[in-house]
Amino acid sequence: MKINLIAISQIPKNPECLVVGLDKGDNFKKHPSFKLLAPSDGNFVIKALGMENNLNEKKPIVLSLPSDPSRKVILLGIPTGKSWNGRRRQAAVRKVVIQAKDSKVKQVTLFLNDFSLPKMADDVSARTATESILMADFSFTKYKEVPKGGWPKIETVDIVVPRVNKSLEKALREGIIIGEEVNHCRVLANTPGGDMSPQKLAEAALESSKRIKSLKVRVLKVKEIEKLGMGGVIGVSRGSMEKPRFIIMEYWGGRKNKQPLVFVGKGVTFDTGGLNLKPTDGIYEMHMDMSGGSAVINALSAIARLKLPVNVVGIIPAVENMPSGSSYRPGDVLKSITGKTIEVLNTDAEGRIILADALGYAKRYKPELIVDVATLTGAAMVALGQRVTALFTNSDRLENLARSVGESSGDEVWPLPLWDEYADDIQGTFGDVANIGKTRYGGATIGAIFLKQFVGDYPWIHLDIAPTMTTIEGQNLSKGASGVGVRFLVELARKYAKR
Ligand code: BES
Ligand code: MN
Ligand code: ZN
Repeated sequence: MKINLIAISQIPKNPECLVVGLDKGDNFKKHPSFKLLAPSDGNFVIKALGMENNLNEKKPIVLSLPSDPSRKVILLGIPTGKSWNGRRRQAAVRKVVIQAKDSKVKQVTLFLNDFSLPKMADDVSARTATESILMADFSFTKYKEVPKGGWPKIETVDIVVPRVNKSLEKALREGIIIGEEVNHCRVLANTPGGDMSPQKLAEAALESSKRIKSLKVRVLKVKEIEKLGMGGVIGVSRGSMEKPRFIIMEYWGGRKNKQPLVFVGKGVTFDTGGLNLKPTDGIYEMHMDMSGGSAVINALSAIARLKLPVNVVGIIPAVENMPSGSSYRPGDVLKSITGKTIEVLNTDAEGRIILADALGYAKRYKPELIVDVATLTGAAMVALGQRVTALFTNSDRLENLARSVGESSGDEVWPLPLWDEYADDIQGTFGDVANIGKTRYGGATIGAIFLKQFVGDYPWIHLDIAPTMTTIEGQNLSKGASGVGVRFLVELARKYAKR
């Protein structure tokens, strides 16, 4: 798919598919697309609009033009009132792509201002629309036979703006990079567990560094992981034939002596639960338990491609959690990199155990900020539903920052409590900290407070992305991994780059 930014005067003659977003009561004759239609076609559209009294963005109307039925107009209802927000806007832009594919058109012309939000700057609008177009265009077809005639494909999307300028062109380029990296993240996360081992995840990171010269990647194997004292990573991985990997990515785009941001991503390539085996319902999506890791890999790739003036390190502990004769057991006590011991009371709370080592390792960089991204708890999903990521942080300033980054990036986050009193719940009996709480309540906070024990006083954001790991209906994205986290981390890095 090729995405172009063009001015109204540059719209090619007889565009194949015009997209028109109108609010109730808007006059189609004032829409810039009206002038591009033959008068009879224009009147035909007006008539169709007149017959529809409940036009919305969820069920677009597709019209074939009387003068040339191979040409289409897609009509959407876009409210301009308070109910119109960033989430609906994204979904509407994506709907256009899906509808155009369904209608088998190859070329789409859409008007950026039809979808605008009152407070959104033009360049942000262009960038996020581009991201959404690419995200909607994605589907994971690697394991499917190509249908006769190939997969439906849109060749070009022309985004029409009043005036093309340098900043909009830059926004388009950035949107393409971010959209591509989000989709690459979805490829990695969607890849079945049988084809996505810790080693394969490491190879994906290495491949990024080959593609992007400013990205440095190092992969630690068992010997080095042991030598560093990462008893958590070693312990969790013991049940699997697949050896653990510890992936370190570095991008030094900022000032030489500036402390980096460190992004940590959970890389459990398949989570069976271990000896505390998951039930049938809980296990089938667990090849996506490395979604945090893939988000970090692709966020670093995007940041490097965008050449943001910021220093960023990515750390991904990668393991497979399997039950076997060599598995770690409930009751085992593992010694983490920080020296703190972890009493394993449930082998299915494995993410926090490997993250303990990764967070401990992160502190070697004396980071300006640590952000971890992890499909950590089903409890976060129970608390929030599947529309928003759970946010935990040890700083009020960061809470505000994260929420605004969430909103402007499209990866929204919502805060949950992280009081130190919760730590009473994970007091260990035979080790320093237990890996589960004493009751079944507040599981997302329990996971977060566990991680906090390994972060120390560093500024820290924990994103529990279990809620948003997969797409849901209405987001107009193909089934499977959502690519959550990439846009958030890139936007956050952009904020730090400005400081
Ligand atoms: N990877 C899971 C959490 C998860 C669940 C992610 C559903 C995405 C969708 C995690 O390792 C896990 O198993 N957590 C346990 C923790 C419990 C044993 C304290 C859970 O949520 O049940
Ligand atoms: Mn688990
Ligand atoms: Zn897990």
